[in-house]
Amino acid sequence: MGLLNSNKGTTVLTNKTVILGITGSIAAYKAADIASKLTQAGAKVEVVMTDSATRFIAPLTLRSITGRPVVTDMFDLASQHTIEHIALGEAADIVVIAPATASLIAKVAAGIADDMVTLTVLATKAPIILAPAMNVNMFENPITQENLAKLKARGFTIVDPAYGRLASGKMGRGRLADIDKIIGTIKQVLGRSGDLAGKRLVVTAGGTREPIDPVRHIGNRSSGKMGYAMAEAARDRGASVTLITAPTSLPEPVGMEVVHIETAAQMKDAVARAVAQADALIMAAAVADYQPKSVAKAKIKKESPSLTLELVRTPDILTEVKGDFLKVGFAAESQDIVANAKQKLEKKKLDLIVANDITDADSGFGVDTNKVTLIDRKGKVEELPLLTKREVADRILDKVVAMLAKK
Ligand code: C5P
Repeated sequence: MGLLNSNKGTTVLTNKTVILGITGSIAAYKAADIASKLTQAGAKVEVVMTDSATRFIAPLTLRSITGRPVVTDMFDLASQHTIEHIALGEAADIVVIAPATASLIAKVAAGIADDMVTLTVLATKAPIILAPAMNVNMFENPITQENLAKLKARGFTIVDPAYGRLASGKMGRGRLADIDKIIGTIKQVLGRSGDLAGKRLVVTAGGTREPIDPVRHIGNRSSGKMGYAMAEAARDRGASVTLITAPTSLPEPVGMEVVHIETAAQMKDAVARAVAQADALIMAAAVADYQPKSVAKAKIKKESPSLTLELVRTPDILTEVKGDFLKVGFAAESQDIVANAKQKLEKKKLDLIVANDITDADSGFGVDTNKVTLIDRKGKVEELPLLTKREVADRILDKVVAMLAKK
């Protein structure tokens, strides 16, 4: 499936002006990756570098990636360019400093603007994200921690550094956070004014696992991709999201509460807790329909030539969950898709059901694309073309937004 990619379509980054400030840390080279991912996602990336950052990575690299001029301290601070740059700070949708050194953090906390990056930070009214990267002792130093606490209290978003090997060879907390975590945080902050701002969504994802004994389970082929795409799309539109996920091989999404469960029964409990204040529940998980009647305490030995497992029904989460929120279900079908999905919508008392044809190789389990039909309570049937799971997620959320507005 080479034609579609996950960046297709409009995202929260499309046409947004992102100022990427780079300061002088060994992690400065990673800013090139951030600039590249933001640019690919459709953002206008304006790079601002301190003089010391330009010693770690060439401005030309960033200029080539973003296709835009890069502002550095080599410009005279008193020049016309500075004034233009303050105007740019005003036009920015978001300012991201990655990596942010201890010195940058101290200067901003003290209100000092003596280089292009601090100047931009102090001149902008846009939300600001700092991704610190420094030696572990500098990061843990109470002065740095106090500065970060002060900036957090002022509304800055801090993407905490990761634990790992530092440039000094020591292990500790101080490595620039994962690029995906930084990008996820940017999306979350930009999404705060989206059409789901103020709404709480609970999304389930992945295939549950029903244990047979301590080492074996009954599972299914769900990859979790549809549910994760739903959760990320909802986050990017401003929702507070709780993602309840069965085990998957996907990276942990940023900017939402993630609850890890394994079995259908655990998912049921987690859903019951999470929906207390929810506006919508989106059940994208492939929940097992049956579980072993009893779980063997020890590993079952292969002694007899055959083995019979007795299975019993799992709870139907969507049917049993109570509360005044929208319910969206999925229906993986291999025949009579619309008729079967309509029946499920009625039986489970759903507001919307997303039916997909799992016999199509580009649709359903494991792949990045999906071809679905949306059916609402009034019986309206909307067949969507083959789209990325992220695009499908946004189409479902368009419906959710419209339904919430009528509630
Ligand atoms: O009945 P069926 O399993 O096809 O329905 C699928 C929908 O119901 C999905 O949204 C799925 O997450 C949900 N479901 C559930 N509890 C179950 C089985 C499925 O909530 N035990």
